[in-house]
Order: sequence, then C-alpha cells, then structure tokens
Amino acid sequence: MSKKVLVLPGDGIGPEITEQAVKVLKRLSDEGAIDIEMEEALVGGAAYDAEGSPLPESTMQLAREADAILLGAVGGPQYDDLPRDKRPEKGLLGLRSGLGLFANLRPAMLYPQLAHASSLKPEVVSGLDILIVRELTGGIYFGQPRGIRTLENGEREGFNTYVYSESEIKRIAHVAFQAAQKRNKKVTSIDKSNVLEVTELWKEVVTEVAKDYPDVTLEHMLVDNAAMQLVRWPKQFDVMLTGNMFGDILSDEASMLTGSIGMLPSASLNEENKGMYEPSHGSAPDIAGQDIANPLATILSAAMMLRYSLGAEDQAARIEQAVSKVLDQGLRTADIWTEGTQKVSCSAMGDAVVAAL
Ligand code: NAD
Ligand code: IPM
Ligand code: MN
Repeated sequence: MSKKVLVLPGDGIGPEITEQAVKVLKRLSDEGAIDIEMEEALVGGAAYDAEGSPLPESTMQLAREADAILLGAVGGPQYDDLPRDKRPEKGLLGLRSGLGLFANLRPAMLYPQLAHASSLKPEVVSGLDILIVRELTGGIYFGQPRGIRTLENGEREGFNTYVYSESEIKRIAHVAFQAAQKRNKKVTSIDKSNVLEVTELWKEVVTEVAKDYPDVTLEHMLVDNAAMQLVRWPKQFDVMLTGNMFGDILSDEASMLTGSIGMLPSASLNEENKGMYEPSHGSAPDIAGQDIANPLATILSAAMMLRYSLGAEDQAARIEQAVSKVLDQGLRTADIWTEGTQKVSCSAMGDAVVAAL
C-alpha cells in the first residue's frame, strides 16, 4: 500500500528547496522504486496569511494521517511582530509537540568534495561525521511558566523555564546510545551542570542510561567547551546528545564544518518512528525568491525520510550517492561555491540530482 507523504513548503526559500526534494521523490516514485502519495498543505507564515493560523487544524489533521512529513522552513521578518501564537515558528513547534517528535537527528557529515568550502582548514574537517541527537519537545522551548510580566516598580521582566523530567531525559538518551552503537560507539552528553540544576539531573540520568550500553563510551562536556571543541577538533565527536536549545545552537555551528548550513538535513522522530524531515536551516529571507538557495539539505532530509519512516534504505542511499555524484561533477550553489567549481541555481541543483539518480 502506498505511503502518505505530507509536504509543507512553508515560507521564504521553503517552497524553492522543497520543490527540488519533491522532484527527487517524484522521480523515484515514477520509476516504481518507492510507493508514495504526496500531498501539500500550508504551515507557518503562508498558513497565517491564508487562514490566520500558522498551523491550521486541517494541516494538523493531514500531518497526523501522514506516514511522514517533509517540511521546508518557516518564518520571516514580516511575521516577527505578530502575537507569539500566530507566528510561523509556533506552527513548527506545534507540529513537533503535537506529533511527539522528541528526537531530532542532525547529521553533520562532510562530503569530501566540500573540504575546501568549510570555513575551517580541510585537515580539521576532512572525514567529519558527527550525529547531533537533540531533544526537541521539551526544555526551555516548552517549559512553563513563561512570558513577559510587569513588576511592582513598573519595569517589565521576561522569563522562561528550563525544565526536563527524568523520563524525557531517559528517552532521548536511549536514542543517542542506540545511534552510537551503530556508529563509532561514543556519546558526548552536553550540559551546563556547573551552573544549572536541570542539566545536573540531565548528566545524572544520562550516566544511569549509559549502564545499558556497556559497548558505548560516555563522556560529559560543558556546552561552552563543546562550542569551542567543535571548531578546534570536531573529529573527536561521534554522537552529541543535547537538550533542545543547546542542540539548536550547536547544530548551526556544526553545519559550517560541512561547508554550509545548506548541507545539514534533519529528522524529527516520535516513539513510533513517525517523522518530520526538514533542513536544519531557516527560511533565509535574505535570499528567498532568487533561486540561489542550496536545496541539498532538504534533498538529504528526504533521503532520511526514506530511511527512517518509509523503510526504503536502498533508495535513501541512492539519493545520497546522487548528491555525491553532483558534487563530483563540480556543481555548487553559491553557499558552497569555491574557485574552480561551477555555480548553479537551486533548481539546476535539483535537476542535477534527479539526473544523477
Ligand atoms: P536562516 O537559517 O534562515 O539563515 C541564516 C543564513 O544562512 C542566511 O544568510 C541565509 O541566507 C543562509 N542560508 C540558510 N539556508 C540556506 C540555504 N539552504 N542555502 C544557502 N544559504 C542559506 O536563519 P535566520 O536568518 O536566523 O532565520 C530566518 C527565519 O527562519 C526566522 O524567521 C527564523 O525563525 C526561521 N527559522 C526557521 C527554521 C525552520 O523552519 N526549521 C529554522 C531556523 C530559522
Ligand atoms: C530549528 C529552528 C527552530 C528551533 C525555530 C524556527 C523554532 O531554529 O529548527 O533549528 O529553534 O528549533
Ligand atoms: Mn535552529
């Protein structure tokens, strides 16, 4: 029976980059290599403009019914002054929490062809292969209470709550250790236990979970040091286990090790391995509508979708090989362009990946 894929292009470069990933999926499905039905819906600012909500109930319903979701990106400066509930980002956070997508996998893998596109020296990044396992439905993003309140002296105060329960920490830790077992068997758990109680508990619970995985080495690292180590000697890492906000920040940092934020895909999974797949970057309003964005993070996210939610490992690998082939051909979008390579548009990059399949 065919699997249902919901496509949510979103805002900014979202529609341009998802179009390229959809081309790739459509080619595989036209060939009969995968059996999927794709449907499109609105999310983020696009949904707010059309329906007054960044996550209309109709979109949420389709998301619940889908076997997997492919999302572009949401957000834009024109929405930044809306009440928080109406903002595009709320649509994305609503999908994550509504579908229980607690495990965000962000692989930072350097394609050897891009060693010179990174802002770090080639010898520092060559062979880089890190997996960031980021908790996605808890932490300071969702903790209560939160808000902006007026104090007795008339001054205002903003506040958020950084909270994790033992069960939330346990389930994301298991994801990280199981991933490490299939990789280089090392987990680096990121915390700020020297200051924050919530991450003191994080460290304690992760240490306890590690006992179930004697074949995996566990290391703890303070987040400030981790940010430094990522650019000092990133190859020391295998799996990095983080809370929601630390993972958000460290994954953007890690993306530059792979050449560009336009190269970093992601998968967000729930307990049933239902997933939403999206590039790690945002809607890039500064380059939207110009057909110059890098669609590879989105195309690689579609590959992760085939691997994790649609049981098509062989076709996922085929997409990844096609991306590698296109890089071998010297084709580069502007963000990964280096001397001696050929600059191509977003849509030309998508076409090239389809041709290379
Ligand atoms: P951003 O990731 O959109 O852009 C940061 C920089 O990276 C920009 O210079 C942009 O041009 C560049 N960039 C990003 N993706 C690129 C790509 N595929 N190809 C080439 N260059 C690329 O981050 P930002 O500017 O801080 O945020 C813009 C908006 O996106 C905000 O509204 C933010 O909330 C939203 N956002 C959404 C998501 C998401 O939907 N998952 C993620 C991050 C940010
Ligand atoms: C990401 C984004 C989101 C996040 C925003 C847009 C809510 O930055 O997916 O990395 O912070 O999780
Ligand atoms: Mn982010």
